Amino acid sequence: MAIHSKIIGSGFATGEHCVPNSKLCEMMDTSDEWIRQRTGIEQRYVAENGTTTSDLGVRAAEKAIADAGLKKDDIDYVIFATMTPDYYFPGCGGLLVRKLGMKRSIPALDIRQQCTGFLFGLQTANALIKSGTAKNVLLVGAEIHSSLFPWAPPAWEYLFGRSDVPPTDEEKVLATQFRDRIVLFGDAGGAVVLTATEEDGAGLIDAKLFSDGDSFEDLYVPTGGTSQRPYMSIDALKRAELVPVMNGKSVFRRAVTLMPQAIAAVCDANKIRLEDIALFLPHQANLRINQMLQKTLGLPDERIYNNIQRYGNTTAATLPIAYNECVKGGLIKKGDLICFVGLGAGFHWGAVLYRQ
Ligand code: ACO
Repeated sequence: MAIHSKIIGSGFATGEHCVPNSKLCEMMDTSDEWIRQRTGIEQRYVAENGTTTSDLGVRAAEKAIADAGLKKDDIDYVIFATMTPDYYFPGCGGLLVRKLGMKRSIPALDIRQQCTGFLFGLQTANALIKSGTAKNVLLVGAEIHSSLFPWAPPAWEYLFGRSDVPPTDEEKVLATQFRDRIVLFGDAGGAVVLTATEEDGAGLIDAKLFSDGDSFEDLYVPTGGTSQRPYMSIDALKRAELVPVMNGKSVFRRAVTLMPQAIAAVCDANKIRLEDIALFLPHQANLRINQMLQKTLGLPDERIYNNIQRYGNTTAATLPIAYNECVKGGLIKKGDLICFVGLGAGFHWGAVLYRQ
């Protein structure tokens, strides 16, 4: 078989603090019942002050490289997916190469396809490997969403259990304006190592990916880019324009419509039937989205994986975390056909077929 790519290692790292729904109820007007019923989320991890997205990426990458049985200098290409980079520029890829302490300089590509970053990263890694440009690609997805939330430093100390002084009423009112978003997200990094293989049947089969910026305002961060001059202002900060704007219902509808379409596209193109797929790994944005996907595809519980209950939505980190848990937990076995699927801000969506 011609050279193509297969995943030989994976790993992940979460933010340092586990934050159950009950703690968020002390920070704003919400309830454990609402969060569980509407999203399925029970807890999420939040990064310590000073931990950056590239730090979580490095922690995940070190585990993935060790799991692959490689040394960091065996990696000859890095792809880093995030929508919450350490800096406006440069991106996290080069920072990760430096923090990993690689002996030589290698190319590091930053991509930003939000919740589909891992899907786009897989397709790119596969193309780099098939073309002979790279042999061992480190694909990282990491996010620190908590930096988008509107709390001042004392409130973070309370959230982390280091202060007994709860947020002020004013802070609670402000956070409540964004409660539909704050409850959804968690901080984490996930990584896989892909290598060149000629092994028959194993590895990445195909990806069908789509992008359409038509309704980007349904999920975006209004401030912090060149749509304004200057790109950041005190007034924009006061208006809390650093918090993402989200039309939850519209995103929900889009996800439950476009994810099944992407699965159909990749299956049809490769003459694969839904019954052939051992496990579906959907992006984790809302448990109800994945339950609707399951119903649409007519899948029994054991053929679709969900872990949003424990991590919330970790955007680009979500799918490598799910993959690692499924491989380590024995849910994906050698020879199994699996399907990654997702939709994210942009909007970008797609599905990837992979044989373990
Ligand atoms: N706690 C309590 N009440 C809340 C909360 C909360 N955290 N959030 C919203 N509510 C209230 C609303 O104010 C509203 O109250 P009202 O009826 O008095 O006006 C009520 O709950 C219903 O709000 P809706 O927004 O209609 O609730 P919905 O059922 O749509 O659920 C949710 C909201 C969970 C955000 C859902 O729409 C969703 O998950 N959408 C998809 C989000 C998504 O996938 N985002 C992708 C991110 S991916 C990426 O690329 C970054």
